[in-house]
Amino acid sequence: MNKIIKKALQLHELTKSEIIELLKNDLLKNELFLAADKTRKKYVGDEIHLRGLIEFSNICRQNCFYCGIRYENKNIERYRLTPDEIVQQADIAAQEGYRTIVLQSAEDLYFTSEVLADVIKKIKKNDVAVTLSIGERSYEEYKILKEAGADRFLLRIETTDKDLYKKLHPNMSFENRITCIKNLKDLGYETGTGCLVGLPGQTIESLADDILFFKEVNADMIGLGPLIPHKDTPLKDVNPNGFWLALKVMAITRLLMPDINIPATTAMETIHPNGRFIALQCGANVVMPNVTDEYHKNKYEIYPGKKSVDYTKLEEKFKQIGRTISKNKGFR
Ligand code: 5AD
Repeated sequence: MNKIIKKALQLHELTKSEIIELLKNDLLKNELFLAADKTRKKYVGDEIHLRGLIEFSNICRQNCFYCGIRYENKNIERYRLTPDEIVQQADIAAQEGYRTIVLQSAEDLYFTSEVLADVIKKIKKNDVAVTLSIGERSYEEYKILKEAGADRFLLRIETTDKDLYKKLHPNMSFENRITCIKNLKDLGYETGTGCLVGLPGQTIESLADDILFFKEVNADMIGLGPLIPHKDTPLKDVNPNGFWLALKVMAITRLLMPDINIPATTAMETIHPNGRFIALQCGANVVMPNVTDEYHKNKYEIYPGKKSVDYTKLEEKFKQIGRTISKNKGFR
């Protein structure tokens, strides 16, 4: 076995140059994926956690260069679910058996922490965990939401390359993003972060830094996906070739953080016909089906062609790869 992979399997530690070697050397790809799958099985087992995702607003104050729902995109129809609609959709998902509800939105300040706190309290009448993915807010707001019952929070760093971060996120601050992630951790959220893979100007070195950052902040969940260019964004002409590299970043993350939750992301499934199942066999242990109502689902177009989970025989398909659907909330 390759020396670096062996070390990662045993110690769950690697230096930056070792991570770079794994990312660069494609001959090690299959061995890396096998090692990540083995680690996943040993530390988090064969259960797959399903998280029901509600995309409740695509109205955004930010202008991220890669994102289809960025403020400046005038070619999409904007929507916002009412607080009652969010609770209704969450209740339905809970009745269907979901043990985690993920409330995701663009950065929409219509949803104040008070409005969201009320939504969370109502959803928490079900026996579910609640995850928020609503972007940057103040410490005080995160605190109100935590006290209302939110359990987890997703906020990707997107890239740890500061200059690249600045270029892609006009009027946003890299430092503030880090502060937000640390605040979430301090407040006791199970905190998820992650990055995009395949950004123009992104280097292998910076991806290695991303992985080390995940470990440094002791993230509880890591979501990774290849960039999928959206026609109404400044990155429309980028070559969408990040699938295998994203998978490698994911596999190394699993090796270095063996007990965390890692979703097989929708972006992976969208860019590769069997992406979700491949990811589940390279370190991932979570799937996030979209439970937003059919009418609004397609309007949350952060990238084109977003693939939804095909529920037909989902349990059977998992079984074919030796996996079952978890019945618990799936905390780290
Ligand atoms: N392709 C892939 N992922 C994207 N995201 C935003 N835009 C794109 C895109 N064009 C990701 C970001 C964000 C998450 C919700 O979706 O990483 O954090």
